[in-house]
Amino acid sequence: MNLPAKYPPISPKTPFFLHGGDYNPDQWPEDVWAEDMRLMKLAGCNAMSVGIFSWATLEPVEGRFEFGWLDQIMDLLAKNGAFAVLATPSGARPAWMSQKYPQVLRVDAGRVRQLHGKRHNHCFSSPIYREKVRIINTKLAERYKDHPALIVWHVSNEYGGDCHCPLCQEAFRGWLRRRYENDIEKLNHAWWTGFWSHRFNDFEQVESPSPIGEDLVHGHNLDWKRFVTDQTVDFFRGEIATLKAITPRVPVTTNLMGVYPGLNYWKFGAVMDVVSWDHYPTYHDRPDTWLLAVSSSFLHDLNRSLKGGQPFMQMEMAPSMTNWMPIAKLKRPGVLMTEAMQAIAHGADTIQYFQWRKSRGSSEKFHGAVVDHCGHEHNRVFGEVAELGAVLKKLDAVIGTTTRPSVAVVYDWENRWALEDAKGPRTEKKDYNSTVINHYRPFWMNGVPVDVLSEDGDFERYKLVIAPMMYMVRKGVGERLEKFVREGGIFVTTYWSGIVDESDLCFLGGFPGPLRKMLGIWAEEIDALYEDERVKVVAAEGNDAGLSGTYEARTLVDVVHAEGAKVLATFGSEFYAGRPAVTVNTYGKGKAYYIASRNDERFHADLLGGLMRQMGLRRTIEGPLPEGVTAQTRSDGKREFVFLLNFKRDAAKVNLGAARFKDVLTGAAVGGEIELAGNGSRVIERA
Ligand code: GLA
Ligand code: ZN
Repeated sequence: MNLPAKYPPISPKTPFFLHGGDYNPDQWPEDVWAEDMRLMKLAGCNAMSVGIFSWATLEPVEGRFEFGWLDQIMDLLAKNGAFAVLATPSGARPAWMSQKYPQVLRVDAGRVRQLHGKRHNHCFSSPIYREKVRIINTKLAERYKDHPALIVWHVSNEYGGDCHCPLCQEAFRGWLRRRYENDIEKLNHAWWTGFWSHRFNDFEQVESPSPIGEDLVHGHNLDWKRFVTDQTVDFFRGEIATLKAITPRVPVTTNLMGVYPGLNYWKFGAVMDVVSWDHYPTYHDRPDTWLLAVSSSFLHDLNRSLKGGQPFMQMEMAPSMTNWMPIAKLKRPGVLMTEAMQAIAHGADTIQYFQWRKSRGSSEKFHGAVVDHCGHEHNRVFGEVAELGAVLKKLDAVIGTTTRPSVAVVYDWENRWALEDAKGPRTEKKDYNSTVINHYRPFWMNGVPVDVLSEDGDFERYKLVIAPMMYMVRKGVGERLEKFVREGGIFVTTYWSGIVDESDLCFLGGFPGPLRKMLGIWAEEIDALYEDERVKVVAAEGNDAGLSGTYEARTLVDVVHAEGAKVLATFGSEFYAGRPAVTVNTYGKGKAYYIASRNDERFHADLLGGLMRQMGLRRTIEGPLPEGVTAQTRSDGKREFVFLLNFKRDAAKVNLGAARFKDVLTGAAVGGEIELAGNGSRVIERA
């Protein structure tokens, strides 16, 4: 596959950074609008997301449409040199619709039809809802198709949740019929329904999982989650089809939510033209929470990877505090800038906020905004936004650049669902997300860029693939990994991998199932530990994997036999003392590593750091990075931009080694040792 070195800007109208946010002029009197335009210019904002929750204003009564206000806003934006990220309003609906067509209201898993209220809670199957959305989307697209302000369709808002109404039950059964080729025995096998006499005679007997019915059949739960993703994607496709029929060249996106548990985002990447996501980090909250910045970087990398490296939109972030966290901490001075530079470092081509003007009433009236209730520009947050706006104007050359890492970490939603649903070896704290991030962290610390893949991803593009807790190995994945390693790839996996197939049925004949031959081990048993228990992991004398001394295992420990693999460390306590704790197997031209327990941070730093060195993986900056600092890179193959980011509150010194750079913001030449302020960042270009 030939991947572009550089991508075109999101819209040909905007070959520069989009800067702006969710804008709700329909909630404000007209005399505020002109003031908004003045303030936008002062803040260096050029893109407003409009109409996200405007359905009741756009169609106050069924069939009566009022676009006058939006016409004025679109014109005002255009007149002021700004653009509209124009939303379809399906994220929340008017009361008249719920009243007249109760089928648009969701039914929860307990089979209770919800009342009208809140948002993000329509039935994804309802033909009436789909039709109402089609009508309003058609009107919006027809009305603004040639408007100079229109650049992107912001489709709906944060799709999520599920619906268990009769229409969704019918759709679920149809989905199952297709998956199991209309053969109920295939479903019975996949769901292992002989257990507890759960056999079905007919698809008509199947219902969605429910706390008042069935929720212990893992294959069933898994298929429901798959269905919910497919049904949501289908709804999304419906919205897109309407828009594309009228505005084929206007890119579409919908804003994602990091590693939101309810939807398999890997299925969304292919559907949209550009990925966008909403990010509300808290790493700045306390002096010792900076490590959370690693997760933020991982999430950015995931979003860039959803479309194979294409830059994404940072659709929402908070200019200051959020209001839905238990403690809404103010962002310290400088944090907003670093948070924005971090997003850009990992591939964002926009910086957009929730929200432009702080709401006067209702549940988000205390959520951070560019324009506060004071209504003017003379406050700290506005000042920092304006400062960021000025910086973004100097980063045009970064637009469309990307990074092509040699390392990929596997993050797979279906695996996560199956793993978290499993009863055993622990019911809680299986911690898939943090385990993946712990394996990502050493790369971040060393400034080695990483892509994120699903199990279906293209392993061949990488030199090193790391798949922590690859519990589920779907059909064909084992073979593809074997090929990858045989041809020279390095593969790393851990305890509790290769346990079930795509139906959540256990592999027979010894774990890790389809990965066993390549790993050269047999995982006979797995032990679960209490929170305070530790097991020693002792590095083998003279191992060449960078391991030394004793490490600590916690939570989960595999009892493993080496079947041809070389033992790099052994357990030093418990009845499995002396058994392999880390192994490596040479397979074809490559190697496959197995980590048999959940280990401490130093272990990951040593093993993965050792691999980075042995493989000679390119670091963004030659020298070692101080704790709390990462270096990330974007390039078009010719120019390279390096982002240095300090997430600690203390200043840090970074040694740039022999390479020469130019400070992108000041134009000054930089090299040698440079200082990063506490919570500070620098953007430099390699000379
Ligand atoms: C989400 C939503 C926004 C807003 C913010 C608040 O991301 O998309 O409408 O509610 O949260 O942080
Ligand atoms: Zn429904």
